[in-house]
Amino acid sequence: MNKAEAKQRIHQLQKEILQRNHEYFVLDESHVSEAVRDALKKELIALETEFPEFITPDSPTQRVGTALSGRFPKVKHKSRKWSLADAFSVEDLKEWEERVEKGVGEVLGEDKTPLITELKLDGLNITLWYEKGVLVKALTRGNGEEGEEVTHSIRTIKNLPLRLFEEIDLEVSGEVILPKAGFEPLRAEGFANARNAAAGTVRQLDPKVAASRDLQMYCYELGSSTAAVPETQEGILQWFQKLGLPVNKGYEVHDSAEASLAYLEKWQKQRDQLPYEIDGVVFKVNEKKKQEFLGWTAKSPRFAIAYKFPAAQTTTVVEGITVQIGRTGAATPVAELRPVFVAGSTVSRATLHNEDEIQRKDVRIGDTVIIQKAGDVIPEVVEVLHNLRPSQSQAFAFPKNCPLCETELIRPEGEAVRRCPNTDCPGRKREAFIHFVSKHALDIDTLGEKVVDALLEFGFIHDLADFFTLTEAQLLELPLFKEKKAQNILTALEEKRRIELPRFLYGLGIRFVGEQVAKDLSEWLRNKHAEENPEGGKAEFSPTQLKEWLQSLSQADLEDVQGFGERIANSIVEWMAQPRHSDLLDKLTTVGLHLTWPEEGGRVEGIAGKTFVITGTLTRPREEIKLQIEKAGGHVSSAVSSKTDFLLAGEEAGSKLEKAKNLGVAILSEEEWEARMKL
Ligand code: IVH
Repeated sequence: MNKAEAKQRIHQLQKEILQRNHEYFVLDESHVSEAVRDALKKELIALETEFPEFITPDSPTQRVGTALSGRFPKVKHKSRKWSLADAFSVEDLKEWEERVEKGVGEVLGEDKTPLITELKLDGLNITLWYEKGVLVKALTRGNGEEGEEVTHSIRTIKNLPLRLFEEIDLEVSGEVILPKAGFEPLRAEGFANARNAAAGTVRQLDPKVAASRDLQMYCYELGSSTAAVPETQEGILQWFQKLGLPVNKGYEVHDSAEASLAYLEKWQKQRDQLPYEIDGVVFKVNEKKKQEFLGWTAKSPRFAIAYKFPAAQTTTVVEGITVQIGRTGAATPVAELRPVFVAGSTVSRATLHNEDEIQRKDVRIGDTVIIQKAGDVIPEVVEVLHNLRPSQSQAFAFPKNCPLCETELIRPEGEAVRRCPNTDCPGRKREAFIHFVSKHALDIDTLGEKVVDALLEFGFIHDLADFFTLTEAQLLELPLFKEKKAQNILTALEEKRRIELPRFLYGLGIRFVGEQVAKDLSEWLRNKHAEENPEGGKAEFSPTQLKEWLQSLSQADLEDVQGFGERIANSIVEWMAQPRHSDLLDKLTTVGLHLTWPEEGGRVEGIAGKTFVITGTLTRPREEIKLQIEKAGGHVSSAVSSKTDFLLAGEEAGSKLEKAKNLGVAILSEEEWEARMKL
C-alpha cells in the first residue's frame, strides 16, 4: 500500500471505528460484534504502526476506557471493578500458569496451585449491592471505578433474589445474559447477538422492556461483605448459592493445569449445546490467600485469566466474485477474499448465497466485508462496511449462462436461486461425485476432491457406478499416483460395496434428501418391509430392489413418512421417474453393490419409531443424547409439534416446554428418559 492509499484507509478506518464505538457504547444499538470492531482496530493499529505520521489524537487507538452514556446516574463502585487479561491460545495459558506457580512458589513455598475454571458467560458485567439482605442498587461496570445505575432493569431479572436468605451487606458481581431462545425473537429488532441484546435491554429506560425479556444473571465475584467470607472461590460460589444467589453450575476445581485444559477443550466443543452463549473459559486461582499474594497489575488481577474462544467473525476485502455450480445445479456466488485467519483456520472464500443477497447487501468487488464462520458451515459474508468502500469498487453482474457448460441459467418463479438445468453440466457432475464419496455418504476419505477431479479429467468416471469398476492400472495413470495410494482407494471402495441404506440414499444426492431425510426414509422402508414380511424380511438387498420399492411408492405414501412434506415427497418421486436414475440403480447392482439396514444395535421398545424433541440443560451433550435416541430407533426433531411423542426437558427449559404442555405432549425428565432407554 502506498502512502496516499494508507492515509485514506487510516482515515476511513478511524471514522468507521469511532462511529461503531459510539453506536455500541453510547446508543446501545450496535449492529456488529465485538470481534468485528476488534478486527477493524487491528487493521488500523497495523497501518498506524507502519505509517505513524497519520496517527491523529482523536484516533480510536489513542483512547482507553469507554464513554458513559450519560442516561443513567453515575455511581462510584465500592471496590474497584477489574477486567481480566485475555489468553488467545493454549500457549498463553501455559505461560500464565507458569507465572502463577512461580509467584506462589516463591512467596509461599508451595508448588501446587489448584485452579477453578468457570464458563465465560457472554453478557454484561453487573454489580449488585445488598444492604441488610435487600437489593438496593445495581450498577454497570462502567470504567471500573464508576458505573451507571440500572437497578430498575436488573430488579426485573427473575432468577435474582430481591432479598437474600441472610440479612447481610454484600457487594457481588456477575454476568447478565440473555439465553439463546430469548434472543431469537430480538434478532429481527436489529441486535447482532445475544450479548448486545442483553446490554440494550438493561439500558432501556422503561423497566417493562427488561421484564418482558428473559434476562438471567449468574454471580461469580465477591466485592465486599459485612459477613465472614469463605477462603476459596469455590467456597464463595457455594456460599452465594446458600444466600439464594444464582451461580452457574459449570465450574470445576482442578489440581493440575492439565486437568484445567481438559475443561477448556470440553467446553470449546460443547458450547453450542448450552442454552446461552459463552465466549471462553475463565481460569482463577482458587485460594483467596494465594490470589492476594499474586495481586493485581494496573488493569487486571494476576490470579485470573480469560481464555477467549477464537472469534467467529472478522473483516476482510472482497477481491473477486465467482459463481460455483452445485450438485443440484444451483449457481452460488462466492466471494474470493483476501485470506484471513478466523476461528482457527484461514478463509479465502465465503458464500454470498444468491443474487438477491448480493443486491440486498450491496456487495462489490473491492469492498471490506464482515465474514462469519459458524460450526461446520461454509463461511459467509454477513455485511458490507460501506464507509470503507474504495472509489474504484466494482458492482457484480450475475452471469446469464453457466460458467462451466454455458447453458442458460434459469431462475424458477418464486425462487432466489438461478440454476444450471443441464444434468450433464460438468460442474454439477463433479459435485455429485464428491458428494457420493463424502463423509456422511460412502465415506471414502482417500477419494478427495483432487482425486475426483483427476478421475474426471482422465475420463475414468461418467456415473457413480464407475467408481466400483476402477482398476489399479487406471489409477496408476493419474499424476502422482503410486501403488500404495491406488491400493488404498481400491481397498476402501471394496469395503463400501456393502453399504447402509441411509448413507446410500443420502449419497445419491436427491434434492432435499439430506442426512436426516435419508435416515427417516430408510427407517420407514424397514418398518414397511418388516410388516409385509412377518416371517422376517431381507437383511441385505440390491439397489435394483430399492428401485422397485421406491417406484411402487406414490407421492401420498411418501408424505406419510414422519417429517416429510410435499416438497420432499415430490422430489423423490421425480428423481425416481427419470430413466437415467433407474438405470443407475441397476448399474450399481451390476457392479456388485449391496445395501443393508443400519445396525440394529440397541433398538429399544418404546423409543423406536417415536419422535423426540430435546430442550433445556442436560447433564450430557445434546448430540450424544440424540445419537442414543437414534440408535434406539427413535427420531429427534428440533421443533415441538403435534407429531412429537416426547419432550425430553432438562433444566431451564423454556418456550418448547410451554408449547409441549399446551399440545399435551408427554414430557420426560432426564431420569425418566434414562429409565425408558434402560440405561
Ligand atoms: S471474573 C476480576 N468470571 O468477562 C474480574 N468474569 O474481562 C472479574 N465474565 O468483565 C471477572 N464470565 O463481564 C469473571 N465466570 C466469570 C465470567 C466473567 C464472564 C466477563 C465479565 C468480565 C469479563 C472479563
